[in-house]
Amino acid sequence: MGCATTPSNPLSLLLLVLFLSVFWHPVQARPPFACDPRDPMTKNFPFCRTNLPIPDRVRDLIGRLTLQEKVGLLVNKAADVPRLGIRGYEWWSEALHGVSDVGPGTKFGGDFPGATSFPQVISTAASFNASLWEEIGLVVSDEARAMYNGGMGGLTYWSPNVNIFRDPRWGRGQETPGEDPILAAKYAASYVKGLQGNAGERLKVAACCKHYTAYDLDNWSGVDRFHFNAQVSKQDIEDTFDVPFRECVMEGKVASVMCSYNQVNGIPACADPKLLRNTIRGAWRLNGYIVSDCDSVGVFYDNQHYTSTPEEAAADAIKAGLDLDCGDFLGLHTGDAIKKGILNEADISDALVNTVTVQMRLGMFDGETSSQLFGNLGPRDVCTPAHQELALDAARQGVVLLKNHGPSLPLSPRRHRTVAVIGPNSDVTVTMIGNYAGIKRYARTIHQQGCTNIACTGDQLFDGAIDAAHQADATVLVMGLDQSIEAEFRDRAGLILPGRQQELVSKIAMASRGPTILVLMCGGPVDVSFAKNDPRISAILWVGYPGQAGGAAIADVLFGAHNPGGKLPMTWYPQEYLASVPMTTMDMRSNPSKDYPGRTYRFYKGPVVYPFGHGMSYTNFVHTIVDAPTTVVVPIDGHHRPNTTISGKAIRVTHAKCNGLSIAVHVDVKNVGSKDGSHTLLVFSTPPARHWAPHKQLVAFEKVSVAARAQQRVHINIHVCKYLSVVDRSGIRRIPMGEHSLHFGIVKHSITLQPATLGVIKS
Ligand SMILES: *[C@@H]1O[C@H](CO)[C@@H](O)[C@H](O)[C@H]1NC(C)=O
Ligand SMILES: *[C@@H]1O[C@H](CO)[C@@H](O)[C@H](O)[C@H]1NC(C)=O
Ligand SMILES: *[C@@H]1O[C@H](CO)[C@@H](O)[C@H](O)[C@H]1NC(C)=O
Repeated sequence: MGCATTPSNPLSLLLLVLFLSVFWHPVQARPPFACDPRDPMTKNFPFCRTNLPIPDRVRDLIGRLTLQEKVGLLVNKAADVPRLGIRGYEWWSEALHGVSDVGPGTKFGGDFPGATSFPQVISTAASFNASLWEEIGLVVSDEARAMYNGGMGGLTYWSPNVNIFRDPRWGRGQETPGEDPILAAKYAASYVKGLQGNAGERLKVAACCKHYTAYDLDNWSGVDRFHFNAQVSKQDIEDTFDVPFRECVMEGKVASVMCSYNQVNGIPACADPKLLRNTIRGAWRLNGYIVSDCDSVGVFYDNQHYTSTPEEAAADAIKAGLDLDCGDFLGLHTGDAIKKGILNEADISDALVNTVTVQMRLGMFDGETSSQLFGNLGPRDVCTPAHQELALDAARQGVVLLKNHGPSLPLSPRRHRTVAVIGPNSDVTVTMIGNYAGIKRYARTIHQQGCTNIACTGDQLFDGAIDAAHQADATVLVMGLDQSIEAEFRDRAGLILPGRQQELVSKIAMASRGPTILVLMCGGPVDVSFAKNDPRISAILWVGYPGQAGGAAIADVLFGAHNPGGKLPMTWYPQEYLASVPMTTMDMRSNPSKDYPGRTYRFYKGPVVYPFGHGMSYTNFVHTIVDAPTTVVVPIDGHHRPNTTISGKAIRVTHAKCNGLSIAVHVDVKNVGSKDGSHTLLVFSTPPARHWAPHKQLVAFEKVSVAARAQQRVHINIHVCKYLSVVDRSGIRRIPMGEHSLHFGIVKHSITLQPATLGVIKS
């Protein structure tokens, strides 16, 4: 739900002002969740004392709970404990790209008719602008806190979704930051910091990185996520699937991780102690709670038949490290698991320590809501002009210019006075929460649907659209997908545009008097080779799902008020790619003996429609390396003898002294064109050839804005252990010694890594 548009008619504006002045009253803060200062029976419990350390307060509270009360707190719809003055709490709220009412913890209405709707995450990722991601998180958490204070929202948001966009057909790829682990990791940490407020122990809202792990299949060719057993190698787990989650926990300090429905190598993710207890909580030291995807404990009992009784399922999940069940399964069966002796009450208490600690960090046990940190946020902090401006800025930054033949873009309001706007996506408010009205600010528009909907099964509306294109000075076709084609529960069968869309586009391009511009609104990639190769189609823009300000952002790019700078966060494969890639095959690496081409730009070398990182501008940028080392010495931790650290001339990351070990590179980015613009410097590395290394890997990115004919110096720091390492077949991360080739666009630079202590080991 986006922000309500402000009335533009002066009379309605006047009425609104009158209405507000008569009926406006300060919003009632929600009653305290616990520790109400007006309740003499409960306000003096030690767990209410804000001057005590949180761990002590948590211990005090849990020590007072009966077993039955504890069980009531294991589910998203947590029960109240009236005798201790604690209200019920709904843990489930969502805020992927703005506060949303998808989860039952948040509702719109009353003083909160809507919230700022930012572009869908795949578009925001295309900005490659980490400060934008944090900024969006900050705004979303302002609005979330405001809604909580007003009694309409929760404080625990099950966002972001940082699964790797592994397969182009995935219906939920749109929710993610794309196919690259390092991009996804940076997105995860930035968005989480913005949401949580980056203030140490205190949380503004609690974020949640989901869905751990090796998810990313919803319903494909008879296999659905409730039954899918992902066969994943240790190498791909460490090298690909774990990367965003590790960064989310260790760098973003996220307060929660959600486990996924699927099995990973035969064990349901939510019942696997190696994943939950050992990795998330042990190795990464999660300070927060682990929650199941909704009803996934029930799913592994009912659908996967992983245990023979429901009590065993409950016991397995909690023993594996699950702290909270989205669903009612743990509420129903945990008590009996204890009675049967397959689970201890102490296991439940341990789980509650993790959830209650997060609630304390959120201030839920600090008494009056209004006196808390962020207690002053209210309705006036939602949909502010500044927030709406950021939604517009984000929408513009997410636009990717894929093709610009001629160049034919930007259009000119002087020469292109009449624009035909065609397509079932051209006037949608649901798909992008915005519409083509943006173009009306620049030109007269003739609107034709062309197809009645995205499925585009008939050609009844073709003639009207062709006429419009024939009359107008320029034609903009807004085509693509929507949630009826790609969504949760819904993976695609193919990559080409649905129904007769392609035919419509080609016919329009033949008939157009002026340039034909194809605007693609879709989350996942589409195979638009026909349009790429058709000289009559002058330009192609990919706009993802651009949010409430999408229409204005698209128009600003079409008419050059904004110079596009977005880049593709995923590979656009040709349709033929799918023939040799079952969606159920998790392998990232190619396997020539099985005709398997591999996945993502890191491992797939075949033909593409548009590559990862592709995105043009109305200007041109040139890179020059100013300063970069040619040799870097990697110090080895003295405790490790060379034979245990070096295998095939690659040092184990855990045996290197990684702290502060980074490569500083200075690059000048020069704008050699005549328009100001933003440019993302993408730095890739090709490690020394080894059969288990990717042939190319993103190691850094930095976005800069550069005025026409000006130059900006970009300082890049490449953390050697994190970014120049690769993962061997046993899942061990190693730093290959020898020549690493860094690519900055067409400019290349070689760096040789050498081990420091060979032969001179001291302890
Ligand atoms: C990155 O996004 C921020 C908004 O948070 C914006 O102010 C900035 O200009 C963007 N950077 C570039 C280089 O475009
Ligand atoms: C998967 O898709 C099939 C066919 O489209 C449908 O019948 C089935 O209900 C879907 N399953 C789930 C779990 O969504
Ligand atoms: C290291 O390996 C070499 C041969 O691979 C062997 O000759 C040498 O003894 C080993 N050194 C130690 C300290 O184990």
